[in-house]
Amino acid sequence: MKIFITGANSGHGFSVAKIFAKSGHSVILGCRNLKKGQWAQKKLIKISGNENIYLSLIDLSSFKSIKNCADDLKNRFEKIDILINNAAIVPFLPSFTDDGLEKQIGVNYLGHFYLTNLLLPLLKKSSKVINISSRIFPLASKRKFSFEDISDYHIIPTYAKSKLCLALFSIEIAHRWKHLGIKSYTVCPGFMATNFQGNWSYMPPPFRYIPRLFMSSPDKGATTTAFLVNKAQPEKLNGKFFAKKRPIKLPSYLSNRDLSKTLWEDSLKLCQKIENNGFKKNRLLLFF
Ligand SMILES: NC(=O)c1ccc[n+]([C@@H]2O[C@H](COP(=O)([O-])OP(=O)(O)OC[C@H]3O[C@@H](n4cnc5c(N)ncnc54)[C@H](OP(=O)(O)O)[C@@H]3O)[C@@H](O)[C@H]2O)c1
Repeated sequence: MKIFITGANSGHGFSVAKIFAKSGHSVILGCRNLKKGQWAQKKLIKISGNENIYLSLIDLSSFKSIKNCADDLKNRFEKIDILINNAAIVPFLPSFTDDGLEKQIGVNYLGHFYLTNLLLPLLKKSSKVINISSRIFPLASKRKFSFEDISDYHIIPTYAKSKLCLALFSIEIAHRWKHLGIKSYTVCPGFMATNFQGNWSYMPPPFRYIPRLFMSSPDKGATTTAFLVNKAQPEKLNGKFFAKKRPIKLPSYLSNRDLSKTLWEDSLKLCQKIENNGFKKNRLLLFF
């Protein structure tokens, strides 16, 4: 199998890459930083003895970079069996992508939406798209998705909204690409001690480090993702949200496709708008 993982140089992404490197699969590391990516590539080859570990640079905060990465993958590979949309950020203060999007939504969700659509020619029968989300998603406001003012930015609800978007994305892929034989799942890997908490530098040290004592390892968090890659699921579980290797019951507002369809259509329009802008650096100031 060929497995492409975004944010593969650390935490959950690296642990997933390690599992599949050790089992002899081809693993493509999607990393934004060349040095960190090369470090991960070398380390994975060393611990697994598997030479089929590749690197493709991708910065999900830039549509131009996402497009370059998709072109690179299309030039080098004929099929991606597993796409794992894993990279994410949780910045304390509002910030923007190169294309003028609020950064959490831009990196965690819309960048992955754009990437996945660009990679569709490589996603063939039996390919799976796994979106790494979090069970924190119900903290997102359940309002209709619309473009909002920056004053609406709140670190956790906005992070939760980006993770809700990923859950809705899996639901839509399961419906829209079913005829192509492509399946999609959402995964919460659980509370893991990773570099994610490095983003908590604004917190006093006890609040930064004490929670880590109660967190699991990224290797443990990676087991649900690996389970979904390895084990065929019944058709009725296509598009579902998994935690601890089990599908979880979603809130009732996610039981129909109203929200997921609207999100897909709005996301597509926004991607087209950014493409039409020619990827020029721009403060479009567009928000969900
Ligand atoms: N840790 C938890 O407790 C927890 C709980 C639930 C869900 N999750 C989810 O698990 C996934 C992995 O998180 P983690 O805990 O493993 O965190 P992590 O160790 O911080 O890994 C995040 C990865 O994303 C990459 N990344 C950040 N911004 C990027 C960008 N603009 N373009 C490309 N890559 C970018 C990072 O690259 P750099 O190394 O270059 O920064 C890093 O490789 C995330 O989707 C997160 O939401 C985590």
